Formats: sequence, structure tokens, C-alpha cells
Amino acid sequence: MGFPQTRLRRLRRSPGLRRLVRETALSVDNLVYPLFIRPGRRMKTPIPSMANCFHLSADKVAEEAAEIAGLGIPAVLLFGLPDQKDPSGSQAWAEQGPLQQAIGQIKKAAPDLVVITDVCLCAYTDHGHCGLVRDGKVDNDATCELLAKVALSHAQAGADMVAPSDMMDGRVSFIRQALDHNGFQDVCIMAYAAKFASAFYGPFRDAAESAPAFGDRKTYQMDPANSDQALAEIALDIEEGADIVMVKPALCFLDVIYRARQRFDCPIAAYNVSGEYMMVHAAAAAGLLDRQAAMWEMCTSIKRAGADILITYFAKDLARATGLPR
Ligand code: PBG
Repeated sequence: MGFPQTRLRRLRRSPGLRRLVRETALSVDNLVYPLFIRPGRRMKTPIPSMANCFHLSADKVAEEAAEIAGLGIPAVLLFGLPDQKDPSGSQAWAEQGPLQQAIGQIKKAAPDLVVITDVCLCAYTDHGHCGLVRDGKVDNDATCELLAKVALSHAQAGADMVAPSDMMDGRVSFIRQALDHNGFQDVCIMAYAAKFASAFYGPFRDAAESAPAFGDRKTYQMDPANSDQALAEIALDIEEGADIVMVKPALCFLDVIYRARQRFDCPIAAYNVSGEYMMVHAAAAAGLLDRQAAMWEMCTSIKRAGADILITYFAKDLARATGLPR
């Protein structure tokens, strides 16, 4: 026997050869860019915990939407911060809430941009939990009723898609019914189906002022040690009417994305969360790694694992970085 016939390095010799055999490509078509909307006027304030991200007032969101659409990004995911918080998070379904107003502004500035809204209560409740708290516990079914009201108010304001991120059991079916009974049968649901109780939401909770005032989210968000259960969560959300299911965070859960891809036919979204984003940013700022290359590798891996849709704070950077890398 001579030297091996097969030399896999042959196909790595030049940029052209590498491009020819590249199995996974990132496309701007699958990106979703998150935005944070606050009460106020003419406000575009940098978010301290999240590099290159801003708190925007509803009147300022038009410019941002036009820029995003101009980059070819098809969708935004809106998070709202209220003026006032209360135990039930009632500002979440306020007709003239900042998020509700922002939807109209976006639709005017960029009619083709898909508007997805995060449906949750944590930024709106004074205790910071994602639902109604009774006797120190989050009451599942009472919360589902409120989430349906929130989703409906987003649909009435013109949202194309609602994205419940609370992890209550049964909320997708509550929301689907509320939408259907009110003439919004065409509004899509992207369910945060397998959402884990993760340490990687830290920067976001500062940005959305949504950290729980007591305890943690482990009674509703999933245990990071579980993946069979993640598939059960996803199956249930599909059964209840979700059009798109999400795995969140992405990086520590690539196996979950992969398994979901093998098992289910519906579109799968992955949320490249704030901690994943800022980890790259902080390491790059410390001179420890190359921001663009790390971004590309991270986002490509999520796609390679099987995600169709990528929700990421890198969306604008990815859209600008054509042909990265060779
Ligand atoms: C709200 C929500 C969270 C994120 C999205 N929606 C935080 C949480 O569950 O505490 C996290 C997003 C990110 O970290 O980028 N339920």
C-alpha cells in the first residue's frame, strides 16, 4: 500500500475550491434582528449591556426599520419596555403601548419588513416573572389568558407574527384561539418552544429591565441538561398550532437544534442570545479573538446544526459582511 489515495486537503487548496464544496451558507434571507422599544420621543440611546444595540422610541424606529430593510434583512423581533410595571404586567396589552405604536411606524417606513413581536410579561410585571404570581408561584393557566390578550393587542396593532417566550404550558393554543376568534387567522405564531433557563440571557435582562425580583425562571424555562424533553416541548407547540418553533439559546443547544431538525418538518428558528453575542464582543474587545471570524463561525454552526431562521444581534453585521470568509 502506498500513500492514501484520498487526500481531503486537495479540496481545501484555494478559496475557489473551498467555496465549491462548502456545505453551509449563511443567507441574509433567514435573519431576524431584535429591537428594543421604549416610551418617549426622539430617543435612540445605546444599551450599556449590549454593544451596538439601542433603546428606541416608537417615532425613531422608522429610520432603523428602513436601514434594516435596506440591508435586505426580512424581519425584526420587537421587545417593549413599559413606562410603568404592575403585578399583572397590564402595560403589555396597552393599545397605545410603545411596542404597539412601533409596529405602525415600521409598517409605514418599511411595509415589507416582517414584524414579529415577543409576547411575554417579564418586562411588564413589577416582580419580573413571565406570568402572574400567586402565593409565590407563577400561575400557568391564568398567565395563558393574559398572554393571549398581549398577542391579540400585537395583532391588532399590525404584527405579522407573535412569538411567545414565556414557557407556560398550553399558551400556543390559547394564543391561536384568541387570534382566530378575532379575525387574525393569518397572523403566524413562532413559539419559543425549547427555551432553556440559561445564564446567557444576562445582557438582555439588563437591556429589557426584566430580571426576576425574586427566585429564578427554572419552574417554567427548561433545564439545560434535557434534550428529550425539548423535543416533547417542540412537538406540543406544533400540535397547538405553532408555525415556527424556536430553540433558545443556540450555541449550548446545537444538539437540540439538530435533533429537532431530524424529527420535525416545520421551520426551526434558533435564537443566538445576548450572552452569546456579548461573549464574542467582549473577547474581541480584549484582543482575544477576531470578531468577524467568530461571528461567522458561530452563526454558520447554528445553521449547520439545522436552524432555518437565525435570530441574532449580529444580523446587521452579517448582512454587511458579504462573502465572509473565503
Ligand atoms: C423574555 C425573553 C428573554 C429573552 C428573550 N425573551 C429573557 C428571559 O427569558 O429572561 C432573552 C434574549 C437574549 O438573551 O438575547 N422572556
